[in-house]
Amino acid sequence: MLKIGVVGASGYSGVELTRLTLSHPRLELRLATSNSYAGQQLSEIYPQFSGLDLKLVNNDLNQLAEHCQLVFLCLPHGRSMAFAQALRDRDIPVIDLSADFRLPDREIYRQYYEVEHTSPALLSSAIYGLPELHRERIRSASLIANPGCYATGALLGLLPLFKSGLPIEDVIVDAKSGISGAGRKPAIDTSFVEAASSMTAYKVASHRHQPEIYSQLRAISQKDFLFTFTPHLAPMKRGILSTIYVKLSSSELKRDFYQLYSDFYREEPFVRLLPPDVMPRTRSVAGTNFCQINLALDKKARRLIIVTVLDNLIKGAAGQAIENLNLTRGWDETLGLTNLAPLA
Ligand SMILES: NC(=O)c1ccc[n+]([C@@H]2O[C@H](COP(=O)([O-])OP(=O)(O)OC[C@H]3O[C@@H](n4cnc5c(N)ncnc54)[C@H](OP(=O)(O)O)[C@@H]3O)[C@@H](O)[C@H]2O)c1
Repeated sequence: MLKIGVVGASGYSGVELTRLTLSHPRLELRLATSNSYAGQQLSEIYPQFSGLDLKLVNNDLNQLAEHCQLVFLCLPHGRSMAFAQALRDRDIPVIDLSADFRLPDREIYRQYYEVEHTSPALLSSAIYGLPELHRERIRSASLIANPGCYATGALLGLLPLFKSGLPIEDVIVDAKSGISGAGRKPAIDTSFVEAASSMTAYKVASHRHQPEIYSQLRAISQKDFLFTFTPHLAPMKRGILSTIYVKLSSSELKRDFYQLYSDFYREEPFVRLLPPDVMPRTRSVAGTNFCQINLALDKKARRLIIVTVLDNLIKGAAGQAIENLNLTRGWDETLGLTNLAPLA
């Protein structure tokens, strides 16, 4: 059994990681941390864990290094990097769910996250943990930057096109997220009265996942392209639906894009291209590590329209983190992650 630690286990992605860890056949949860709730049972915050002895402890690096063979960091950006540095200095592998190691350029990180990166050397050794893109590099990684939730949905929708070498000049990603995407910390905008029965765009033209998505796609295409990303808050607890528009030239309209996507994802364990005309819905992937996709060609507008759905807390966070861990250990990538969504 691999002894693992979850730092930030009181938050939404941390608690989902804790839950997934408990049903994983090869993981032993040794430490679950929280500064605010240290000393309390996890079941005092989340009654789902009632009957299990899961006492939260402080974020103590020495304890983590002594008891854990791998640590998941589920902290806000700006907080993870110091932990990652200290754990890597002690040779403990780290999977970081925050954005601290996702952007290759520390200047862009500073610009979007408004904090100075304090571990630039480590930054260059981090592997971006999207298995469908970097599976081989993830296998030998000791620091994994787990992708953002919006970024996962957008990238999975666009990878087949970018990998096909199609010249792409203009992409729009319009994405809607459930409120858990904002984390557990209370805020006016995500309170029930403000968010229920209502939708709003936010961080228009300035969201932090914009450079993350762009940098991964730009590394594939090796060419600049126009890219717009608009996130919305949707009145649901979890899930992200992304509608992606890609401008095509007239000569590309004859291509069989459905076949392209079908071939690209045929062997992928967690990406499902739905039958033609069945559009993805967030409910079908809730609580699972699956991403479902479909697409349609608007010939008049010369746009390919791709729709993806995933659970922000699972394929967009904790599930993908376990998938990455499975890869680093040489285990079956799907271990502990094959459940399907309940009906409702
Ligand atoms: N929510 C999502 O859908 C999602 C998806 C992908 C990635 N992520 C990323 O995952 C990370 C955690 O997100 P979340 O949604 O789980 O957030 P959350 O629900 O707000 O939880 C944050 C966790 O970090 C701890 N924490 C907060 N401020 C801290 C500080 N100053 N120092 C040390 N610990 C601190 C909290 O612990 P205490 O109990 O000590 O306060 C809590 O356990 C973020 O970087 C987020 O961007 C989130």
